[in-house]
Amino acid sequence: MITDNHGRKINYLRLAVTDKCNLRCFYCMPPEGLNWIEKKELMTYDEMLHICSLLVNNGIEKIRITGGEPFIRKDMMQFLAALSGLKGLRQVTITTNGVLTAPHVPELKQLGIQSVNLSIDTLDRDRFFSITRRDELPNVLKTLDALLQHNIETKINAVVMDGKNTEDIIPLAALTKELRISVRFIEEMPFNGTEAHGPGLQWNYIRILEKIKETFPEIEKISDPPFSTSYNYHIPGYKGNIGIIAAYSRLFCGSCNRIRITPLGELKTCLYDDGVLNIKDLLRQGLSDDELKRIVLLALDHRPKDGFEAERKRKEKKPVHESMATIGG
Ligand code: GTP
Ligand code: 5AD
Ligand code: SF4
Repeated sequence: MITDNHGRKINYLRLAVTDKCNLRCFYCMPPEGLNWIEKKELMTYDEMLHICSLLVNNGIEKIRITGGEPFIRKDMMQFLAALSGLKGLRQVTITTNGVLTAPHVPELKQLGIQSVNLSIDTLDRDRFFSITRRDELPNVLKTLDALLQHNIETKINAVVMDGKNTEDIIPLAALTKELRISVRFIEEMPFNGTEAHGPGLQWNYIRILEKIKETFPEIEKISDPPFSTSYNYHIPGYKGNIGIIAAYSRLFCGSCNRIRITPLGELKTCLYDDGVLNIKDLLRQGLSDDELKRIVLLALDHRPKDGFEAERKRKEKKPVHESMATIGG
């Protein structure tokens, strides 16, 4: 088991397999996309499996595959098959935008993928286009259908953006009437891949909850699973749940059990740090597993206590204008 310098258990790895994406969500990247990482700089699947296996042997129990959009990367299903075969790994989960995912759902089920988080910021096709700059809502909804048909636990992620999709909060919440899903509303974070970061947080978790309560005053707080990023609620009589993720307010750092590896192979001990070491470079230098383990555990013994401390330290070095697609959410 890995415990950090603040006594927090680390058992969850978020592995971003690519920075590329087939959408251009304006809160994540500019219309022209990012300066995509060169192929030789990306971790190979073998390198990823190597480091995942080492981490699983040392206490990582859950791996979430993120990006960019994971299904953009070639041979993703073969990688998932190999990853889900790692001994000791209890759960493999995926965060996807759902554009290319639907045809893979039966195989995901076969591989034992229990849970998928799907980004859907609006159910309105025109607003979907204005947020993501692509007309892909029908394909995303096909993925939602396929996940439900295959009984894969599904969480919908909706970033709440002033003037863009606040009219979608109620229709999205209402999906939980008939669907056994969790719809989670997320505070927008300033990770859009540019230096322009807008007027700051307009919709924090309190405002989002108040908005939901105007239509559903009977909404009840329910218990949150351990290490949950969301505060969870339920409308009596509805099949699914509603969650609010205070990602910008950073209310869940005290129980943070997660580390990240970016597509470049950088280890991040907090979403807000700028990478504490590069695992891919160390692997390519031929470090032994024992050396690698020692270096990683040392980094995890120097974690910032929360996202505010990480951000402060980082700003001393360079300002933050990263995209979520290079951080891996
Ligand atoms: P599960 O608990 O496994 O469902 O993961 P999750 O909810 O963290 O995963 P997901 O990839 O769906 O991310 C949902 C939102 O939470 C995204 O906007 C993430 O950026 C945000 N988030 C995830 N991890 C962190 C974190 O460590 N810190 C902060 N501030 N936000 C996070
Ligand atoms: N703020 C909040 N959430 C974001 N995501 C991407 N960029 C941002 C941002 N700037 C979300 C996506 C996806 C998850 C991994 O992160 O919508 O659901
Ligand atoms: Fe792609 Fe996700 Fe970024 Fe949207 S938020 S552009 S779906 S990586």
